[in-house]
Amino acid sequence: MGLLEGKVAIVSGAARGQGRAHALRLAREGADIIAIDICADIDTVDYPLATPEDLDDTVAQVELLGRRVAASETDVRDATAVAAAIDTGVAKLGRLDIVVANAGIAMYDAADTMSAQSWRDMIDTNLTGVWIVCRGAMPHIEDGRGGAMVLISSVAAHVGMLHLSHYSAAKAGVVGLMRALAVELAPHAIRVNTIHPTSVTQR
Ligand SMILES: NC(=O)c1ccc[n+]([C@@H]2O[C@H](COP(=O)([O-])OP(=O)(O)OC[C@H]3O[C@@H](n4cnc5c(N)ncnc54)[C@H](O)[C@@H]3O)[C@@H](O)[C@H]2O)c1
Repeated sequence: MGLLEGKVAIVSGAARGQGRAHALRLAREGADIIAIDICADIDTVDYPLATPEDLDDTVAQVELLGRRVAASETDVRDATAVAAAIDTGVAKLGRLDIVVANAGIAMYDAADTMSAQSWRDMIDTNLTGVWIVCRGAMPHIEDGRGGAMVLISSVAAHVGMLHLSHYSAAKAGVVGLMRALAVELAPHAIRVNTIHPTSVTQR
């Protein structure tokens, strides 16, 4: 028996990287997975985001572990689409216990020349998108069983890093969000924590 047998987790940004690793680790412990990812590029992000094929690979790897998946190409900036993806996933998999709000972007941009669109895309994805995923999950976890929310922040929430003002602001915002949600959701037995990775590269 895995630690999470019979549980269901949503992972945002699940198509590749740390999101895929989180999905596979949760699945190895017995959880079924609601996997969402934008699977498209964002104009202000200067590197390609995941593809539909990446998300398909995550689905195949979770299924190889014997777990079920509800996957969708969903942008965490779109509250209506995220709520619908979570509702559809819960309808398929039966419940929701765990949130890993992992989807994120990271581009270097000097504060004095950064475009307002670049700032907005960062905050919308890395901060508002985290709230949107938590918000979409809340009605499904607040049913008395309890659960856990893990919000992926960064070491950049704690230390100043060159040309990452928008990223640092978003990731520090995630810490404030975590603290507020932890208080608000404690009566529902839902734990809320942040994780602060340093540099992580894909193998
Ligand atoms: N890689 C690092 O060194 C590092 C360090 C600290 C924190 N982090 C954080 O860890 C998380 C995962 O990063 P990673 O290293 O795996 O990066 P990654 O680029 O490999 O993965 C991020 C995933 O999020 C998806 N995504 C981006 N914007 C989205 C949106 N609007 N809606 C839905 N999905 C979206 C991408 O398509 C991609 O699949 C991010 O929140 C990132 O900020 C990464």
